[in-house]
Amino acid sequence: MSSLKGGVGKTTVALGLASASFSRGLRTLVVDLDPQSDASTGLDVNPEDYANIADVLENPKERTVRRAIAPSGWNQHHEGSIDLLVGSPSAINFDGPHPTVREIWKLEEALASVEADYDLVIIDCAPSLNALTRTAWAASDRVLVVAEPGLFSVSAADRALRAIEEIRRGVSPRLQPLGILINRTRPQSMEHQFRIRELKEMFGPLVLSPQLPERTSLQQAQGAAKPVHMWPGEHAQEMAGYFDDVLDQVLHSMQSGEGASRVGGAAGGGARQSATVAFSEERADSPVVAVESGDQSEDAFTPDE
Ligand SMILES: Nc1ncnc2c1ncn2[C@@H]1O[C@H](COP(=O)(O)OP(=O)(O)OP(=O)(O)O)[C@@H](O)[C@H]1O
Ligand SMILES: [Mg+2]
Repeated sequence: MSSLKGGVGKTTVALGLASASFSRGLRTLVVDLDPQSDASTGLDVNPEDYANIADVLENPKERTVRRAIAPSGWNQHHEGSIDLLVGSPSAINFDGPHPTVREIWKLEEALASVEADYDLVIIDCAPSLNALTRTAWAASDRVLVVAEPGLFSVSAADRALRAIEEIRRGVSPRLQPLGILINRTRPQSMEHQFRIRELKEMFGPLVLSPQLPERTSLQQAQGAAKPVHMWPGEHAQEMAGYFDDVLDQVLHSMQSGEGASRVGGAAGGGARQSATVAFSEERADSPVVAVESGDQSEDAFTPDE
């Protein structure tokens, strides 16, 4: 889950998608790559009991990775299996503007040793285009760009898609945008409807349906560290349904080997599919989805030559 802007709902979408995946019985791993560690809080894990993402980026060997993976507290509420690769404020030390190629591949290296245990890996990114986000993208098959229906959303989403395309061309051919997920819409707001139309005109089928409305039940579930699928009330169930929909699109995109659309990319690019279908070289991997948000931050994107 990605956005270059803060606070548009990356973590909320990552947790909603995780809730959908968990409820469906998929073995799910959430990677908390944001130094703010909000996903770790939302998944009800006490980080003190585990190693964390900073340890993993320091030393991406299997032993460290397994020590940094915690079962989510969600497992108490429902049958199934959802784990967290624990976040840490120290991850900020790995978020420099000019990562080396080796640094960019560290998360991929780390996940390669555990991903056979999972059907879906969801990465919650920090709101920037620095090393951590590029590390997430290099480890991912798809990027879900989260955007708010605001004034800068078109330019923000455009920058995010261009950055994804740079990484696809320069680093990881399998990477594709899953699409732009518009979050926090108010159907009665003329401004929001205008911005949504604008995004659709600009990006066509890359704008995913449904758009997610603003609902306090999401905040309540998040605040209580519970999956939205298990939160009572009509609105929570409505949101759960939307996240089921997004999950369907993730899984469909992995099966077909295509994003909702493409940004100048050749079809497929050899997408990794389920745990049994190998991507490009020799490994059989589970799909990995990073969540970002399209944003107007000023960080310059500097592709590695
Ligand atoms: N659809 C929604 N309805 C209501 N509240 C929402 C919705 N989406 C996000 N929020 C709320 O907005 C706030 C910011 O969302 P969130 O933390 O998911 O954003 P973020 O992009 O992960 O932020 P950051 O860049 O700081 O990591 C949170 O309090 C969250 O509960
Ligand atoms: Mg967040």
